[in-house]
Amino acid sequence: MKTVFGVFGDPVEHSLSPDMHNAAFSELGMDSIYHAFRVDKKSLEYALNGANAMGFGGVNITVPLKQEALKFVNTDPLASKIGAVNTIDFRNENDMIGYNTDGVGARRAIADAGVDVKNKNILILGAGGASRAICFQFANDGADLIIANRTESKALELAEDVKSVGNARGIGFSNLEELIAESDILINTTTVGMHPNTKDTIITSEHMHSGLVVFDIVYNPLETRLLKEAKSAGAIPVNGLMMFVYQGAEAFKIWTGENPPIEVMKNTVLEELK
Ligand code: ATR
Repeated sequence: MKTVFGVFGDPVEHSLSPDMHNAAFSELGMDSIYHAFRVDKKSLEYALNGANAMGFGGVNITVPLKQEALKFVNTDPLASKIGAVNTIDFRNENDMIGYNTDGVGARRAIADAGVDVKNKNILILGAGGASRAICFQFANDGADLIIANRTESKALELAEDVKSVGNARGIGFSNLEELIAESDILINTTTVGMHPNTKDTIITSEHMHSGLVVFDIVYNPLETRLLKEAKSAGAIPVNGLMMFVYQGAEAFKIWTGENPPIEVMKNTVLEELK
């Protein structure tokens, strides 16, 4: 019998995870299948218990359920600190364990670009769920973080939380230009620039310097306005493709114990984004 995996979210129809994971299963000759399930907040507990009862191997959790899911699973320590889960493992029938692989995904994506975050000054735009995962990961890896958010209170709150693992300071959207000048890496975790608002950007090229690494976690479009601005400033653009692939690859490893075929997953996602 096939082992079933999936992603729970709402909306979830356009998720690229099913194609990416199914391509990996097929490449490794595994008799498994991954499907997208539309689940809203009020149904999440039933959906998780149902999937567990039916013998699912595991699920990913996406918008808007990542925080809600914490209530119903046992979490590993990193996911507890982040306050959100994106991966649930059902392997042990009596226990559902929640993980967060977004931060590791970001670290692997940045590492692919030849960047080590240790002792680097990083300016992070946004203080939502994705930002939380990235901030905990990079603070833990020894970076110095400044978290800038449109709603300043959220940046301050996140910085306080992150201080338990490393260095972080929170601010509103002020003085960003000066802060970029002192930064090695700029990371956009906001939804600004995402399809269909592809002309939007928080920062433009005149405030960037050559050698600055500009990482945008948005992957639709692959080249956001922010990354175009980075290119024209001689900065180093890193798009959101590999963070998405690696967060999935880490989940795959948790569920199956196997190393997934990264290139196959990447090419499948690229094909979908064309
Ligand atoms: P995710 O899970 O993808 O991180 P989220 O938790 O909803 O999504 O967070 C969205 C982030 O994008 C927030 O930091 C949000 O800023 P606010 O806290 O001020 O809402 C940021 N964001 C969304 N639209 C924005 C905009 N037009 N300008 C600046 N920041 C924006």
